[in-house]
Amino acid sequence: MKVAVITGASSGLGEEYVRQVIKQLPEIEEIWLIARRLERLESIAARFAEHRFRCLSLDLTDPKSFAVYQQELETAKPEVQLLINNAGFGKLGNVAETDYPEQTGMIDLNCRALTAVTTITIPYMPKGSGILNVSSIASYAPTPRMAVYGATKSFVSSFSKALREELKPLGITVLTVCPGPMATDFLEVADIVGRSRTFETLPYCHPQKVAAVSLARLCRKKVWYTNRLFYKFYRVLGKVLPHSFIMKFSKT
Ligand SMILES: NC(=O)c1ccc[n+]([C@@H]2O[C@H](COP(=O)([O-])OP(=O)(O)OC[C@H]3O[C@@H](n4cnc5c(N)ncnc54)[C@H](OP(=O)(O)O)[C@@H]3O)[C@@H](O)[C@H]2O)c1
Repeated sequence: MKVAVITGASSGLGEEYVRQVIKQLPEIEEIWLIARRLERLESIAARFAEHRFRCLSLDLTDPKSFAVYQQELETAKPEVQLLINNAGFGKLGNVAETDYPEQTGMIDLNCRALTAVTTITIPYMPKGSGILNVSSIASYAPTPRMAVYGATKSFVSSFSKALREELKPLGITVLTVCPGPMATDFLEVADIVGRSRTFETLPYCHPQKVAAVSLARLCRKKVWYTNRLFYKFYRVLGKVLPHSFIMKFSKT
């Protein structure tokens, strides 16, 4: 059975990935949707009644969820053609002014869960399959007021690049996606609304476009996707300018 696994599938970019997988990958026989809100997953599955879904309500910050997911794979023994590591969240605020569980929660979901889900899934991925990891433009330079979030996304970008090299002999490709701000639940979860001039002035990316183009690029075995010229330019600045200078602008 050819399967696509999507984490963080219950809203925003993840929900768009569900649409795009259906549209672009007709060979996928079942889509596994992972997030905490089961009712959201089930309503997405119901919207595409002609397709097969498996809805897994898992809190990926809880390591017990990794064992549940592993057992699900062990029982079903699918061919995972596509893994989309999309679940993630951010929190706005200086480290010194926030509670530590908020900060470490980002590390748990954005880094640990992504690493665990990837490692658990690889044995089920055949030659020709692909992994799409959702990072952020926050990985291009340190981001004061979202210091931990930016650091977790640097992890995602760095991990994905090295993983791509490691998986080449197995014929598995890896794409890193770095979206700029998108009008999704992310903004509310991160407590950004009305509290960040940077987020109010930056150009926004459309989740539908990010999902459509990034999935197409993964299929063409590309390495990277950044939406909008503005953020492609920011990526270059992040490579050539001292971060001490960039942080005057990257502060959220
Ligand atoms: N929106 C932006 O401005 C922006 C910019 C750059 C990058 N990104 C990245 O894009 C990705 C998708 O975010 P989004 O913008 O689509 O925001 P979103 O709508 O809030 O989606 C986040 C997804 O992650 C899931 N999730 C959160 N905590 C989880 C947990 N503990 N266990 C399992 N799943 C969990 C959520 O589902 P449940 O709540 O149902 O668990 C939801 O499906 C994230 O990795 C984010 O960092 C977003």
